[in-house]
Amino acid sequence: MNNSYFQRDRDWHPPALTPTYKTSVLRSPRHALLSLPTTLSEETGPVFGHDILGPLDNDLIRNFAKDGAEAIGQRIIVYGRVLDETNRPVPGALVEFWQANAGGRYRHKKESYLAALDPNFGGCGRAITDAEGRYEFRTVKPGAYPWPNGVNDWRPAHIHFSVFGHAFAQRLITQMYFEGDPMIWQCPIVKTIPDPAAIDRLVAALDRNATIPMDSLAYKFDIVLRGRRSTLFENRLEGN
Ligand SMILES: [Fe+2]
Repeated sequence: MNNSYFQRDRDWHPPALTPTYKTSVLRSPRHALLSLPTTLSEETGPVFGHDILGPLDNDLIRNFAKDGAEAIGQRIIVYGRVLDETNRPVPGALVEFWQANAGGRYRHKKESYLAALDPNFGGCGRAITDAEGRYEFRTVKPGAYPWPNGVNDWRPAHIHFSVFGHAFAQRLITQMYFEGDPMIWQCPIVKTIPDPAAIDRLVAALDRNATIPMDSLAYKFDIVLRGRRSTLFENRLEGN
C-alpha cells in the first residue's frame, strides 16, 4: 500500500519559497524533502458519513445568524464537483469552506482589518459530496481585503477550501476566486502560481443557469484531484 498516491506536480503548484509572498520565506523548507510512506490506517480511515452534518452546515447565510436573521451581502450559491484526474466523481469527500464576510473581514481573534463584523455571519461551513461528487453551499460573496505583505497588497475576493478524501492523509487545501475579478491578477499569492492555466482552474465561473431569480447568483467551482493509482482506484470504482 505504500506510495499509493501520486506525488505533487511541482511545476503546477507554486514553489514553497516565494519571497514576494513574505511569510513563505520563514515557512518554506530549508532541507531536501523526505518522502514518508503512508500507513494502512492513513489510507483507509476514517470515512465520513452524511450524519455528521447539521442542516445548516452548507448555508453560511444562516448557520451563524440569530433566529430569523441572515448575513448581509450579495447572496451567492457556490457549487461544483470533486473529480479525480480521470474525470470520475469522488463521492463522500468532506468539503469545508471558510471566508471573510461581505466587507472583507474574518471572524477571527487575530483579524485586524477595520471592516465591520457582521453579527449574523460566521464564515465557515461544510458539505459532503454526493454519489456524483457534487457539493453545494449558499453564502454571501466575500469582500477583498488588505493584508500586511507589500506596501499596499490586497487579496481578491476568495473562498478557502479544504477537501478530505477517505482518510486524514488525503487533505487538500485551495482557494477559489470569482470570474471577472481584476484583483486576481494583482495578488502576490496568486502570482506565486507559475502556470496561468493553473490560476484559471481556481476561478469559479459565473453560472447564470444556476442562479435563483430575485435571490442568488451562482458560481461553479469544480475541484479536480490528481487521483489515486489505478490499482487502488479500480478496486473501488465509486471511490469509497
Ligand atoms: Fe483568506
